[in-house]
Amino acid sequence: MIVPLAKETKKSMNRRPRRNRKSQAIRNLVEETSVSVKDLIFPMFLVEGQGKKIEVSSMPGIFRFSIDTLLKEVEECMKLGIEAIDVFPAYPEQLKNTTATESYNPETFYLKGLREIKKEFPEICLMSDVAMDPYSSDGHDGLVKDGKILNDETLEILGKMALAQAEAGVDILGPSDMMDGRVGFIRELLDQNGFTDTSIMSYTAKYASAFYGPFRDALDSAPKFGDKKTYQMNPANSREALIEAELDLMEGADFLMVKPALAYLDIIQLLNTNYPLPIAAYNVSGEYSMLKASVEKGWLENDRAIVEMLTSIKRAGAKVILSYFAKEFAQMHRQ
Ligand code: PBG
Repeated sequence: MIVPLAKETKKSMNRRPRRNRKSQAIRNLVEETSVSVKDLIFPMFLVEGQGKKIEVSSMPGIFRFSIDTLLKEVEECMKLGIEAIDVFPAYPEQLKNTTATESYNPETFYLKGLREIKKEFPEICLMSDVAMDPYSSDGHDGLVKDGKILNDETLEILGKMALAQAEAGVDILGPSDMMDGRVGFIRELLDQNGFTDTSIMSYTAKYASAFYGPFRDALDSAPKFGDKKTYQMNPANSREALIEAELDLMEGADFLMVKPALAYLDIIQLLNTNYPLPIAAYNVSGEYSMLKASVEKGWLENDRAIVEMLTSIKRAGAKVILSYFAKEFAQMHRQ
């Protein structure tokens, strides 16, 4: 506790916090949190075809790549020190259906792409997304029947998708769907099929957030009706995150993720103090776009704001940060 300064001490002021801020060298010595490129996972968007590099209009500086241009981009990122990427597919409407069958078709461009990335760069940590929305004609993360999202029937589909991605060589599966029981279901299926080494980074506390808008533009994956509030969490709740974390821990998750990051720093801290698993945070598309829009208007300083955002997420307790700023951050810290 801080005792009010006595008149005597006040006169001499023997405690001057500014002494620890007086030079860059001292500031470095007392710095508690420092983000490294090694903490970051770079999310990337893959489309079918060749020679494509199309900017996402609501995410300046972020592109949808075809596999050939994506491989070049990955190589460039690796040269900058990035060691982990998360690849999301953008599917054309004609390949979507109600049961997301394209998600486990071994010849689909996403799974072929994942295999190629792993073949070209075996040392990279490759993460994938497990959820129905990119492949679903309903645009939901689960199977829809009579306007409802079915839980247990969705697990069967997620299981097939997860196995197909593990077979393609993915290192970390990212179930982002928020169905109940999916981590345990996927873990068991992986183990039965010999994929005991494939990790699961569970989207543990994923909120029904307004900050996913630009991502849904990037993938053309917005829900066709309703919203995601029957499966994603209510932004007003924090204690519920403990239930999700407990379940994911018991079901075999290797990482617990909080998403979004910046408006949920308290949730990151809550899980980090209560659970021994590494905590990840997803610095989502809307958080990226918000900054980029302000920078375009000349209202905020890009580089400083990026470092401050990532540092605050790490300071709150996230060891791993998924961020669209990963490449820019790596460029800023090039050695
Ligand atoms: C889909 C998924 C979403 C994101 C990652 N996986 C969108 C959603 O749940 O609607 C959002 C990522 C971002 O906004 O950057 N299961």
